[in-house]
Amino acid sequence: MAEPSIQENGPDVRVERDGDLAIVTIDRPKALNALSPDVLSALLTAFETLSAEGSAVRGVLLTGAGGRAFVAGADIRSMAELTPEQGEDASRLGHRVAAAIEGLPAPVIACVDGFALGGGLELALACDFIYATDASSFGQPEVHLGLIPGFGGTVRLPRAVGLARAKELIYTGRRIDAAEAIEIGLVSRSFADRDALFAGARATLDEVRANAAPAVGLAKRVLVDAAGRRTESATELEIAGFGDAFRTEDMHEGVAAFIEKRVPEFTGA
Ligand code: CAA
Repeated sequence: MAEPSIQENGPDVRVERDGDLAIVTIDRPKALNALSPDVLSALLTAFETLSAEGSAVRGVLLTGAGGRAFVAGADIRSMAELTPEQGEDASRLGHRVAAAIEGLPAPVIACVDGFALGGGLELALACDFIYATDASSFGQPEVHLGLIPGFGGTVRLPRAVGLARAKELIYTGRRIDAAEAIEIGLVSRSFADRDALFAGARATLDEVRANAAPAVGLAKRVLVDAAGRRTESATELEIAGFGDAFRTEDMHEGVAAFIEKRVPEFTGA
C-alpha cells in the first residue's frame, strides 16, 4: 500500500489519504475547531476534491483535532457584525458544505471526540452517521445566542431523532452526553477513547469496502435524496436507483457470484 499522504486545504483543514480512505481533520483547537468562513471554504474544497476522485475514495472519516472538540459551532466572533443578508450567506455556505458531504458517493463517518455543538452538530448530521467517544457532548445551543440553527439543524436533527426531541433540544439549547445521544438515535455507536473510536470507524468502512462501490453510492444517493419526501416521490427515487444498479458491472458480478456459489470480485465499475 502507498504511504499515507497529507494535503492541506487551507490553514485549518487537513486531508490525509490512506489508500482509498480519507481522513478530514478540522484543526483549529484554540477556538475548539469553530467553523469560520475560511474553515467552511476549506471543507467545501476538501469534499468537492474527494468527490471528483469518484470511486478512488471508498470512505471518509471527519474529525476535529485537539482532543476537546469535534466542532464547537459556527465561529461566533465572525458572526457578530453580520447584516441579515450576510447572515443568510453564512448559512448558505454551511449548507453547501453539508451538501458536498451528502453528495459524496462514499460514506462519511463523523468521528466525534468532545463537543459537537451548533454548526458542529449540524456538520456531523450531514455525515452518514455519527460515532463518538463516551466523553462527547451534543447540542444546538443557538437560542442561547439569539440565533437558530443555520447549517441544517432544523432539517436533519428531526430526521435523526424525531420532531418532538429535535424541538426540545433546539428550544432549550440543552447539551446531552453520548449515552443520551445513543438512546435517542443521534449517535450510532460510542467508544471508550479516541483510538477505539477510529478503530471502530475504520472497521465499519472495511465492511463497506468489501461491497460493490456503485451499489453503496446508489444507496447513499437514494437515502439522502428520499429523506423527508412523501412516500410516493421517495419510492420513485428508489425505483430509479434500483434500475441504475442494473447498469453497473458489479451488480452483474454480484448476482453471478451468488448463483455460481463463489465470492464476487467487485471492480467498482
Ligand atoms: N466560535 C468561536 N470561538 C469559540 C467557539 C465558537 N463557536 N466555541 C469556543 N470558542 C473559543 C472560545 O471563545 C475560547 O477562545 P479564547 O480562549 O480566545 O477565549 C476557546 O474557544 C475555548 O473555549 P472556552 O474557553 O469557552 O472553553 P470552555 O471549556 O469554558 O467551554 C464550550 C467550552 C462549552 C464549548 C464553550 O466554548 C461554548 O459554549 N462555545 C460556544 C458553543 C456554541 O454556542 N455553539 C453554537 C455557535 S452558533 C452556530 O453554530 C450557528 C449555526 O448553527 C450555524
